[in-house]
Amino acid sequence: MNINSVLVIGAGTMGRGIAQWFCQHGVRVELVDQHLEMAQASGDLIHSSWDKLHSKAKFDADEIKAFKKNLRIVDMMEHQIDHDLVIEAIVENLNIKCQVFNRLDEIMKESTIFASNTSSIPITKMAKDLSKTRRENFLGLHFFNPATIMKLVEIIETPWSKKDIAHGLYDWFERYGKKPALCKDSPGFIVNRVARNFYGESFHRLENYDKDQVEEIDRVMKNVGGFRMGPFELMDLIGIDVNYDVTQSVWASYYYEPRFRPHKIQREMVDSGRIGRKVKEGFYRYE
Ligand code: NAI
Repeated sequence: MNINSVLVIGAGTMGRGIAQWFCQHGVRVELVDQHLEMAQASGDLIHSSWDKLHSKAKFDADEIKAFKKNLRIVDMMEHQIDHDLVIEAIVENLNIKCQVFNRLDEIMKESTIFASNTSSIPITKMAKDLSKTRRENFLGLHFFNPATIMKLVEIIETPWSKKDIAHGLYDWFERYGKKPALCKDSPGFIVNRVARNFYGESFHRLENYDKDQVEEIDRVMKNVGGFRMGPFELMDLIGIDVNYDVTQSVWASYYYEPRFRPHKIQREMVDSGRIGRKVKEGFYRYE
C-alpha cells in the first residue's frame, strides 16, 4: 500500500499533530476545520514547530522545505476529492462525525480509505449507513497525543473492513516508524478501555479537588508506578473535555456499569472551562 495524500478534518490538538506527522513522512496533506481561522492557526503552529526542530538541528533546511511544501491549509468546501486517505479528528460526537462522513461519501472517490481518530466511539456506528464499498474501506486510526511523537496507532477493524486495507496500513505505518496495533471495534479499543481505570481510580482516590493530592498522585504514579505521566498531567495534555466525552462514551457502551462512571470532578472542570493545557489551566496552571 502507498499513501501519497491525506485529508485531515479537524485542526485541533490531534488533527494538527496527525497532519504534521504525515507531512514529515513524504505525504501531501490538506488540513481543514469548520473554522478556517482554526486551520490557519494550526498551520502556523506546525510551521513554527518545524522551525524549532530545524534550529535544534533535528531536520536540515531541505527537509523542512519539503515538509512545508506538503502542507496545505484549505477551506472546508475547497479540498480535493481524490485523496488516498481521509482522517477525521473532530469533536467526539457520533452525530457530528456521521454528518461529516455522509458529506464525504458524496464527494470523495470510491477507493479513498475513510478513517476516524475517535478515542471511543464505535467505528461500526459511523460506517453502518454507508454503501458496501465505503464500509469495506472504513476503519479507525487512533493516534495518540502528541501524534508526532507517540508511536502507537490503533488500527480498528469493523466486521466489514477489508483485511488487506487494515494489514496494508499496518505495514505502511511500521515502515515509517510507528508501532501499529490491530484491534477489534470494542468500546475504548485497547488503550482507552484499560486507561479508564487509571483515571477512574485516581478520581476516587482524590474524591474532592485538592492540589497537593493531585501532585502527590501524579508523583507516585511516575516515580513508583513507572508511568511517564501521572493521570492528572495526562488528562491536562489530552484535554479534560475530550477525556470526559470518552469516559461517557465508554460508560454508555458498557450499559452504564458503575466502574466506568465519570467522576463529578471531571464534570466540574469541564463546566468551569478548566479543560487543560489548551486553555492554560486544568489540574495545573500553564504559562
Ligand atoms: P480538539 O477540540 O482539540 O479539536 C477538534 C477540532 O475539530 C476543532 O478545531 C473544531 O473546530 C473541529 N471541528 C469540530 N466539528 C467539526 C466539523 N463538523 N467539521 C470540521 N471541523 C470540526 O479535539 P482533539 O483533542 O483534537 O480530538 C479530536 C478527536 O480525536 C476526538 O474524536 C478525540 O476523541 C480524538 N482523540 C483525542 C486525543 C487527545 O489526546 N486529545 C487522543 C486521541 C484521539
